[in-house]
Amino acid sequence: MHALRIGFLLLTLPAYLQAARILAIFPFPGPSQYINVLPYLKELAGRGHHVTSVNAFPQKKPLANFRDVFLPDVFDNYNELINELSEPMNLWQGNNAINKFFVDITRCVLTNKEVTKTLLPPGKDHFDLIIVEALRSDAYYGFAAHFNAPIIGISTFGTDWNIDSLVGNESPLSYTPLATGGLTDRMTFLERLSNFVDTTVAWINYRFFHMPEQEKMYAKYFPEASQKVKLTDLNRNFSLVLLNQHFSLSFSRPYVPNMIEVGGLHISHKPAPLPKDLEEFIQGSGEHGVIYFSLGSNVLSKDLPAERRDLILKTFASLPQRVLWKFEDDKLPGKPSNVFISKWFPQPDILAHPKVKLFITHGGLLSTIESIHHGKPVLGLPFFYDQFLNVRRATQAGFGLGLDHKTMTQQEFKKTIEILLKEPRFAQIARQMSERYRDQPMSPLDTAIWWTEYVLRHKGAYYMRVAGQDLGFFAYHSLDVIGFLLGGALLLVAIIVGVLGKAAKLTDFGNSKKKLKTK
Ligand SMILES: *[C@@H]1O[C@H](CO)[C@@H](O)[C@H](O)[C@H]1NC(C)=O
Repeated sequence: MHALRIGFLLLTLPAYLQAARILAIFPFPGPSQYINVLPYLKELAGRGHHVTSVNAFPQKKPLANFRDVFLPDVFDNYNELINELSEPMNLWQGNNAINKFFVDITRCVLTNKEVTKTLLPPGKDHFDLIIVEALRSDAYYGFAAHFNAPIIGISTFGTDWNIDSLVGNESPLSYTPLATGGLTDRMTFLERLSNFVDTTVAWINYRFFHMPEQEKMYAKYFPEASQKVKLTDLNRNFSLVLLNQHFSLSFSRPYVPNMIEVGGLHISHKPAPLPKDLEEFIQGSGEHGVIYFSLGSNVLSKDLPAERRDLILKTFASLPQRVLWKFEDDKLPGKPSNVFISKWFPQPDILAHPKVKLFITHGGLLSTIESIHHGKPVLGLPFFYDQFLNVRRATQAGFGLGLDHKTMTQQEFKKTIEILLKEPRFAQIARQMSERYRDQPMSPLDTAIWWTEYVLRHKGAYYMRVAGQDLGFFAYHSLDVIGFLLGGALLLVAIIVGVLGKAAKLTDFGNSKKKLKTK
């Protein structure tokens, strides 16, 4: 009944809402971020809004109500960053690499020809809503001030200290780990220490070394808006933040009212039938079933060291299962007959297939969410960023196991695959995770659309914003109050000491008088 009513509401909403002009900015050059948000942007266009999307992966076929602004330059630094992040470096260097990368990406957006010609000149265009990838790219939040429109942020990995600051959310460091630290919400003392230090270093690095770069760009590319609105006010004035996360996928944690979980908003609910050759290969696996192996869109299987590739091939050859391997080359020398390679697979539809029993994955968030959605156990081989955390969560929750792809032996690899396939608890927990995740009042995509149009209907829904966003650092943390109380207490102690001292002197005086008398 409830679902029906919500469905009805959703159907009738467009009638109450004028079509809005929406500017979306998603410059990240890794494909998975855009794969995550594209269905949402397309749905907005499908509902009659006019969407202008500044991005790195333009549509191949034109789409109604949808304009692409292509950013070819963002790819330049990307491969460099990926390689850099796979190498060992200290905390400070790691933060520098990431923050510098985002400064460069932000500059790519603001110097792009089409952006400077059609979006930046004052009065050239107007927008009712700005939607951005909210990731240390403060200067382009300037479009909100430029067009005097509310701004919505999307974070494709969940929240952290930087995303929190946009809406004044709280993430207690004692149980909310940094996405890059590979820790879970249950931390030992030493892990909490490391989480505290990592977060503080990340904050200092951004706030004092890269935020000034962002402020310079804001002043340069938004000369008029930056006169009126300070960037440090703008980046605390988000109407809404949508997170690609959900408590059933990770862990429970607090959110302010304008921070909404829409984890897996890219997943469509009806799996499509598989291409014929693929379906036949899967059906031919008999009672053993199929293993699906993909390292995602950033790490390429074809670039694995020959010796690692060999180890993987030999392991697969020794298994009774059939294997689908996302391999980005036409030829794979020594490919056994139970292995099917392709440069691209319809991943969600494969994971939905009942004969697919195991997903060997790099542990990217989208892949992890898809495997949970379809209730499939995972073997995680993490490479970088949040992948270690995702694999650790899968291990903690009990629907997966992880291995170090750099050091694992053939025996370990095979053994782990066998354990995951043979012990029923992994498949059981994966199914249970899937049931919990799917049990939501609205699909993540519908939720994201509903909240977006809510912000439009209520002109930024400014009343959702917590008052903490307008407090300074000292007042926010009650440091002024603590200082006042401490000061008061000190004063009181001083007075008491003073009074007692005086009294003691007086009684001393009396005593000595008495003493004198008795003498
Ligand atoms: C914050 O957002 C609201 C609603 O979108 C807007 O009215 C207000 O001017 C903004 N303030 C700043 C400092 O950007």
